[in-house]
Amino acid sequence: MMVPKCCLFDLDGVLVDTARFHYMAWKQLADALGFTFTEADNERLKGVSRMESLDILLQIGELSPSQEEKNRFADEKNEVYLKNIQQMTPDDLLPGVRNFLKEVRKKGLLVGLGSASKNARLILEKTNLASMFDVIIDGNLISQAKPNPEVFALGAHLLGIENNSCVVFEDAVAGIQAAHNAGMKCIGIGSSEILWEADKVFPAISHVRISDLIFS
Ligand code: G6P
Ligand code: MG
Repeated sequence: MMVPKCCLFDLDGVLVDTARFHYMAWKQLADALGFTFTEADNERLKGVSRMESLDILLQIGELSPSQEEKNRFADEKNEVYLKNIQQMTPDDLLPGVRNFLKEVRKKGLLVGLGSASKNARLILEKTNLASMFDVIIDGNLISQAKPNPEVFALGAHLLGIENNSCVVFEDAVAGIQAAHNAGMKCIGIGSSEILWEADKVFPAISHVRISDLIFS
């Protein structure tokens, strides 16, 4: 039996519904570049860093621009994304998130964020969630994107917890793989058809009970 000492949460798509803002911003770029970018394509971008997401997008569009153009495209996408997230408030947290984090803390578990996003802190501040975290690992602190375990391993390390005592919450396939690559358990948040690699899958955080954090 595994009883965790800490929960590490991905941000986008787990705590806040920013996945659709990322999708809208990437789609706007694809439209401008003249190719179709679908929601199914977007699954491949979830959990992946901004530049790697751009590489996947350009592969789909069969384009190979210069590095300079790529930097400009990434900046343009981020500007659109930032404009969308400026309006976020605590009401934009996904249902049950604040309560679940409170409950986890009340049980004495440590709480960390493990996100590839360089905008993670801004979002935690806008949604008034930053104070719930014992450690915040974001895209500014890591060099290796999920499925590399760096983001979660660094979180556990800074909390002083062994990797195998951590449970990760993820909505992305790359994120589940990152958790497993770190030797951690993973709860998938979303569809079990997509997230079948996770140890357990729930449609949303609001469906997870504290007892679900125990693994046989
Ligand atoms: C998260 C999202 C990705 C996003 C990445 C980088 O992992 O799931 O869709 O591309 O963060 O986000 P950023 O805000 O730094 O562009
Ligand atoms: Mg995510």
